[in-house]
Amino acid sequence: MRLILLGAPGAGKGTQAEIISEKYSIPTISTGNIIRAALKEGTEMGLRAKAYTERGELVPDEVVIGIIKERLAQDDCREGFILDGFPRTIPQAKALDEMGITVDAALSIEVDDSEIVKRMSGRRVCSGCGASYHTEFKKPEKDGVCNLCGDDLVIRKDDEPETVKNRLSVYHDQTEPLKSYYKAAGKLLEVKGQDKVEDTTALVLGALSGI
Ligand code: AP5
Ligand code: MG
Repeated sequence: MRLILLGAPGAGKGTQAEIISEKYSIPTISTGNIIRAALKEGTEMGLRAKAYTERGELVPDEVVIGIIKERLAQDDCREGFILDGFPRTIPQAKALDEMGITVDAALSIEVDDSEIVKRMSGRRVCSGCGASYHTEFKKPEKDGVCNLCGDDLVIRKDDEPETVKNRLSVYHDQTEPLKSYYKAAGKLLEVKGQDKVEDTTALVLGALSGI
């Protein structure tokens, strides 16, 4: 299974990716998580990306395309993968095509902007592995601690309301056109994001069972 997850910031891509990854035993490649890890480590790429992510803007195409090329060349991607947060622009989608990578589907999780703002305010993420939680909708077993790796849960810097608004507008301008791109290729699947994580999962797995 080679899958792209599309959807606005906060639509639940990371949340569903964790579940699909386990069910199909394929890795999730989240450009957002890779960039946040680089920021934390203070690498050159992290320093380049810092200002963009903090403003809620996209990191330049050549930077993320480089990240993806390197990551997809690793052995664990041979049997398939989930791309969470890539591609996010038409040039990124074209770069993927030029790498000779064909995907089985691009699955878009559709959630209204007003719902997104509500979700982001309660999101907590693991400072270690990047797993995503919510103060109301997806509580960790132990307060403030990641179920998966035991590291601390933190608030993402780009989840400030003003930055979320900017990320949403960037999404509508630059990423949403990818739906037409993959629709034209006969690869688009659309699922309406539900109020409960498990209800969205049921729709997502249903859509994937058809490919
Ligand atoms: P990235 O980390 O990819 O952010 P994003 O796309 O904005 O998406 P999020 O991670 O915020 O949301 P999500 O859809 O994963 O939602 P989640 O599952 O956490 O990118 C960050 C930045 O990096 C970008 O702004 C950009 O600067 C840069 N970047 C990354 N990739 C790039 C690229 N390709 N090109 C250029 N720049 C790039 O869910 C959200 C919350 O809701 C959670 O708290 C969750 O628990 C909760 N939730 C989930 N599902 C439900 C549900 N059904 N009901 C209730 N709550 C739910
Ligand atoms: Mg995410």
